[in-house]
Amino acid sequence: MTSRRKFILNTITLTSAAALTKAALPSEKISSKIEKLSRRKNKITKPIVISTWNFGIPANEAAWKILSSNGRCLDAVEKGVNVIEADPKINTVGYGGLPDRDGYVTLDSCIMDEFGNAGSVAFLQDIVHASSVARKIMEKTPHVMIVGSGALEFALANGFKKVNLLTNESKEQWEKWLKQNNYTPMKIDEHNHDTIGMLALDSSGNIAGVCTTSGIAFKMHGRVADSAIIGAGLFSDNNVGAAAATGLGESVIKIAGSHTVVEQMRLGKSPKEACVAAVERIAEMQKNYKDFQVGFIALNKDGEVGAYAIQKGFQYAVYADGENKLTDSDYLIKG
Ligand code: GLY
Repeated sequence: MTSRRKFILNTITLTSAAALTKAALPSEKISSKIEKLSRRKNKITKPIVISTWNFGIPANEAAWKILSSNGRCLDAVEKGVNVIEADPKINTVGYGGLPDRDGYVTLDSCIMDEFGNAGSVAFLQDIVHASSVARKIMEKTPHVMIVGSGALEFALANGFKKVNLLTNESKEQWEKWLKQNNYTPMKIDEHNHDTIGMLALDSSGNIAGVCTTSGIAFKMHGRVADSAIIGAGLFSDNNVGAAAATGLGESVIKIAGSHTVVEQMRLGKSPKEACVAAVERIAEMQKNYKDFQVGFIALNKDGEVGAYAIQKGFQYAVYADGENKLTDSDYLIKG
């Protein structure tokens, strides 16, 4: 190619890129929003916590104890989801989680604090509180993510106890599934949900988030999904807000779901509008979106929350102003 042609092509490319960037990112609007948010950073704020599904209600209770006594958002979200991880009756998170198709309960979790630090654990076995292991990885190592036997070794070395996570009830469900052996992922709705994701704004105006799960029941051994991946199952930016995902993790990973939601809020969308944009992105890019469920929750720096899902049936719990309330999320596929 002649240098003149190269120059013209480069110029066209650069001009188009600049035009696109300008259209996609109204820079004045973004900087004024960020300025506004940072000015509020040190103001006393009314705390709020949002979490996925109806098990968000007891999880929020534990988080609220910390938030209402001016505690730190990171402590609130960790202690909140710890309640669900320890409950043997909840078979999609922690102890009592349904196993993979080979009978092993394997956990994924990730966490982010108000300084943008992140920790993550994947394919963790025999430890109840995957979220607390993720926090330890964030705080005690130079890494973000540790998986499998390395994660178990790290947890044991840091004082976590080894526990068999497979309860009799979960084992029975797995044995029943083995007989059918059709390898169909379970339907996710208000009766059979998955990840708990939790986002909190504390009274210092700071935001943190966490998500934790035993993943899709009867998955392939070694499968890791969105709940271990920063930007997919969870993302938090203390200048803007945070988001978490629930539902089919493979779908969420493909659009970097929670990061997408936070970036939409950065561009000026409300938490609900940002969740709608992420769900619409899935619908645009994944032809089979009608066959599965994904839901997002979001919280912004002003303490506003929102949620949206592909299908009917997603619920989220919000604790604010002393009231803990479960709400049916709005959704895309109507009729
Ligand atoms: N969202 C949890 C999972 O897909 O494992």
